[in-house]
Amino acid sequence: MKLKTLLVALGLPLLSFAGGQEIYSENCEKCHGFSRQGSLGLPLYRSTIANHSDRYLTKTIRYGRPGRIMPAFNLSAAQTAKLIRFLRAGIKAPQYDPTPIVGDADAGKYTYEQYCQRCHGAQLQGGEGTGKNFSWQKDREVSPPALANQGFLHAAEDQMIKRIIMKGIKDTEMMSFEKEFNFTDKMANDLVAYIRSHEKPIEQHLKSTTSEEPLVFVYESANDLGVTVDKLRDSAAAYNFRVYPSRTLFEGLGGIAGDDEKQVVIRFCNFKNMQKFLKLDPRLGVILPCRVTAVEDKSGQVKVYLENYMHAVERFNNEQISIDAKELINNMKEMVEEAVW
Ligand code: HEC
Ligand code: HEC
Repeated sequence: MKLKTLLVALGLPLLSFAGGQEIYSENCEKCHGFSRQGSLGLPLYRSTIANHSDRYLTKTIRYGRPGRIMPAFNLSAAQTAKLIRFLRAGIKAPQYDPTPIVGDADAGKYTYEQYCQRCHGAQLQGGEGTGKNFSWQKDREVSPPALANQGFLHAAEDQMIKRIIMKGIKDTEMMSFEKEFNFTDKMANDLVAYIRSHEKPIEQHLKSTTSEEPLVFVYESANDLGVTVDKLRDSAAAYNFRVYPSRTLFEGLGGIAGDDEKQVVIRFCNFKNMQKFLKLDPRLGVILPCRVTAVEDKSGQVKVYLENYMHAVERFNNEQISIDAKELINNMKEMVEEAVW
């Protein structure tokens, strides 16, 4: 993202020539194998990928698995998209409801100790070694991944974790606990709550501080204004925002655009989120942006502007507000990134 902003600032086009397969062989193959059978890394068979949303894959690639060999990659949104298309090979991406699952973490801990600990470890640290190469425990086909890993927890949706527990992962030791042990919905929810309780605030993983960040994030869109606006609206809806009619402004009527530019403001809101912020501090209502602006210049290039309200949020000097707001702005950044290519 930072790199991208920089490239835009330098006026460089965001082109990438390599296809998904090349990106895979250059970055992933040495650990995940030529035919994706796994080696130091887990197998990435299509049946595994079938459990993974685009969001999960994007974030897994971006955050890596700190301490578990899988590096964090600084690929552009376009490169990541190509790579994911290659991994999917035509299989449809699942969509998970991002609403957190509510469960009883203490009950989940008990179930974990009974059923999961022997493979995933008492501290959810994963099996010995990784993947299915030289370092792993030889009595296992594949070393069970770490579940308390921040890279995993920031990437995984609760609903994905639940689905994997209930349905298992085809042709692996990760069995269907619904089938084999008659797990109830509640048992799965409690387990998800327990696994989730190991997540640390995302702020601890952000390398840069707000003061170094730009006041406005600017993205170059690969499409024309109409397509960009449609994609932004779709992306906002996918991120659980309610989307309002867009406002079109010509000739910079109080907006960002100059005299001969076209400008569309896309407005969206997530009431649950908004309510949460208003409870923390009612003054937040005026600074949370809930809008992005798409501007087409004379040459037809479309840019998308997202205000970085963290600069304003930081003045509240309230850790909880900063953490929640950072998460929201990160969501909005992802939402835009997914719409500009
Ligand atoms: C240096 C080795 C290494 C490289 C390079 C690597 N990975 Fe990984 N990857 C791993 C390991 C190890 C894990 C499992 C972590 C664990 O055991 O907790 C993993 C896990 C994953 C997972 C999670 C799988 C699952 O079932 O949830 C995905 C997805 C993934 N890697 C994709 C990629 C992609 C895409 C690339 C290339 C951009 C890549 N990896 C490059 C080592 C690597
Ligand atoms: C017999 C060993 C074993 C047991 C028992 C087991 N797992 Fe797994 N689990 C695995 C392996 C191996 C994988 C990785 C499979 C693959 O992707 O190839 C896995 C994958 C997972 C994943 C996906 C993680 C990722 O990085 O994609 C989750 C979540 C998970 N297990 C949760 C659980 C929970 C919760 C339990 C207890 C109800 C459990 N597992 C019990 C072996 C096990």
